[in-house]
Amino acid sequence: MRPKAELHLHIEGTLEPELVVELARRNRIDLPTFDVEAIRARYSFANLQSFLDVYYENMAVLRTEEDFYDLATAYLRRAAAQGVRHAEIFFDPQAHLSRGVPLEVVFGGLSAALKDGGMSAALILCFLRDRGPEEAEEVLRAALPYRERFIGVGLDSAEVGYPPSLFRRVFDIAAAEGLRRVAHAGEEGGPDYVWEALDILRVERVDHGIRAMEDPQLVARLRAERIPLTVCPLSNVRLRAVPSLRDHILPAMLDEGLVVTVNSDDPAYFGGYVDDNYEALRRELGMTDDQLDRIARHSFEASFAYEPA
Ligand code: HPA
Ligand code: ZN
Repeated sequence: MRPKAELHLHIEGTLEPELVVELARRNRIDLPTFDVEAIRARYSFANLQSFLDVYYENMAVLRTEEDFYDLATAYLRRAAAQGVRHAEIFFDPQAHLSRGVPLEVVFGGLSAALKDGGMSAALILCFLRDRGPEEAEEVLRAALPYRERFIGVGLDSAEVGYPPSLFRRVFDIAAAEGLRRVAHAGEEGGPDYVWEALDILRVERVDHGIRAMEDPQLVARLRAERIPLTVCPLSNVRLRAVPSLRDHILPAMLDEGLVVTVNSDDPAYFGGYVDDNYEALRRELGMTDDQLDRIARHSFEASFAYEPA
């Protein structure tokens, strides 16, 4: 299998229905159903928000260090089987803090899993943009005692209505701490969100970024500065950012000379892990081995912390 790095992966989005049920039983949490197929049957989404509603609801089963350890360990195993040699993994501390799960528990479980996982891997702390900039700053300050456990910060959750410019201060603080910077932009939001992420947040990679293609000047900027884009094709189809894989703009992005990478985003919800995304591009879009090899090379070039074994 083609070696690759995965750079756009929410650890909470790897929570498979089987693990939801197992952790609910372990933590004595009542679920609307304990039938994994019934859980999976809910995974039909109209847009980003309808996915986020289910994503936040399911992650309520994550309570203990062991839960976070098991979650990340399961992901690393699956990723290795898909040819992943290095992973930069998003996590959403606010989604756990708001449920009363302390940072110590989240960092404890995730860091231990990465240490034991036998793969080059690192964590990126994401701010939930719909909880606003003040709370983002509080979370960053609370996480600074764990500064050596994560390499960067990102921005995720509901995009439209929460432009990157709101988060200038917290990204400035992160930069001063030597943290790497990424942001989701141009998934549902327009090219203006991508411009703001570059100019105001000084991001070093753009997560999704597919709508950047609507603005030729922006495309020229991304190409000239070799700013990588972490594209997630199956996610875009499932969240209806594109009508079908055959309509995906990814081949055109590659033809434009952009540093495009392919990633799984929330694989437990979107029907495939990272190599399944590569395979779907071959099957549905006729992308060639040459093109897919280029994308895999980009993934290592775009990584912040790859440490070859
Ligand atoms: N977009 C925004 N926020 C998210 C996503 C996504 O695709 N997945 C998990 N949080
Ligand atoms: Zn994402």
